[in-house]
Amino acid sequence: MGAGPAGLLLSHLLATNGIESVVVENRSREYCEARQRAGVLEGGTAELLRSVGLGKRLDAIGMEHGGIYLQFDGSRHYVDFRSLTDGRTVTVYAQTEVVKDLIAARLAAGGAIEFSATSVSVSDVASDRPVLSYVDADGTPRSVSCDVIAGCDGFHGICRPLIPEISVYERTYPYAWLGVLADAVPSTDELIYSRHESGFALYSMRSPSVSRLYLQVAPDEKLEEWSDDRIWSELQKRFAVDGWSVAEGPVREKSVTPMRSFVSGPMRYGRLFLAGDAAHIVPPTGAKGLNLALSDVVVLANALRAALLSGSWELADAYSDTCLRRVWRATHFSWWMTSMLHVAPGADAFEAQLQLSQLRYVTSSRAQATALAENYTGYRPARLQT
Ligand code: APR
Ligand code: PHB
Repeated sequence: MGAGPAGLLLSHLLATNGIESVVVENRSREYCEARQRAGVLEGGTAELLRSVGLGKRLDAIGMEHGGIYLQFDGSRHYVDFRSLTDGRTVTVYAQTEVVKDLIAARLAAGGAIEFSATSVSVSDVASDRPVLSYVDADGTPRSVSCDVIAGCDGFHGICRPLIPEISVYERTYPYAWLGVLADAVPSTDELIYSRHESGFALYSMRSPSVSRLYLQVAPDEKLEEWSDDRIWSELQKRFAVDGWSVAEGPVREKSVTPMRSFVSGPMRYGRLFLAGDAAHIVPPTGAKGLNLALSDVVVLANALRAALLSGSWELADAYSDTCLRRVWRATHFSWWMTSMLHVAPGADAFEAQLQLSQLRYVTSSRAQATALAENYTGYRPARLQT
């Protein structure tokens, strides 16, 4: 259930093992392909996509990055991932492009994706034949009798509540991100994560002519209060360093995203498996959400391959624990990056000094910088079995 990156990649991986699936999605194809989301792929995630035939546009328009800048106190410091790790990098490639690639690949292979489905529901997950019911885009009621159902239906989906006695661990942050997509040539070679007294700012990009920028704002921030002029002047202030400025251009899109850490488990009940945002959310500061979702799916594809083709359910039994170990590492890293770089409302001078001390430490100690680089570029990827 769900045609986000998790549901679509799972369907693609299952097909390579000869396992049939249908992806049921309540939004239209246009909506799924236009949704603006994150954009950083860990090295292992990019490799995974290439290894399953999804590397063509990624290699053509993805932008490989060997580090990030951390900025604080008016100065900018480079964290060089390549030299801190064994040459690891990340690739800036928008999630929306990953989704387009996956939809195109599934449809070209004759895969079934039911967009614009309504009345989607799941039953009998504790039995050997769970049922997925929905009304298709033409208004015809459908019912699919399945071996398993994968709840890849995002944070607001209907599958997570079907798991009885699920444990939930949650933290909401007292700020949000105002995201801006602009037709402006990025004035930086690498992403810039900037801590400023007025709040955090992030400089990212989508192409050599499109910038993706974020500003820390209040969780209940009103978009209409942010004119393009106000956005640019706030960005200039939060990224200011001597002799450099943010290149401005027409703003194409803006939106406000809340910041939340959320982990739920177990990620399985009977024949229902959760993957991606349906089970966990990280704040975007660590750029981990998409990578975690795709990593869950590799573990799940391996487990379903063993269960459905060989009748061996050990990997399926280990699925939740295997995923949650990585999820908690990413949850800690994202929380750490978020706490180090944002200015919480009401934070006092003591807290500010701790943040600055931590930032100075990360940018001056090889051990600390290596820890950041290792987490940012990704953990050892789950290996796809074929
Ligand atoms: N029935 C069918 N589809 C549903 C339902 C439902 N009841 N509820 C939600 N969906 C769909 C959504 O419309 C969406 O297309 O499930 C899909 C979930 O996709 P995502 O939210 O993209 O989640 P996921 O595939 O896990 O990808 C995680 O998305 O939010 C980002 O940072 C996150 O990068 C990460 C990625
Ligand atoms: C993005 O490009 O959208 C992006 C990059 C890095 C982040 C979050 C978002 O940490």
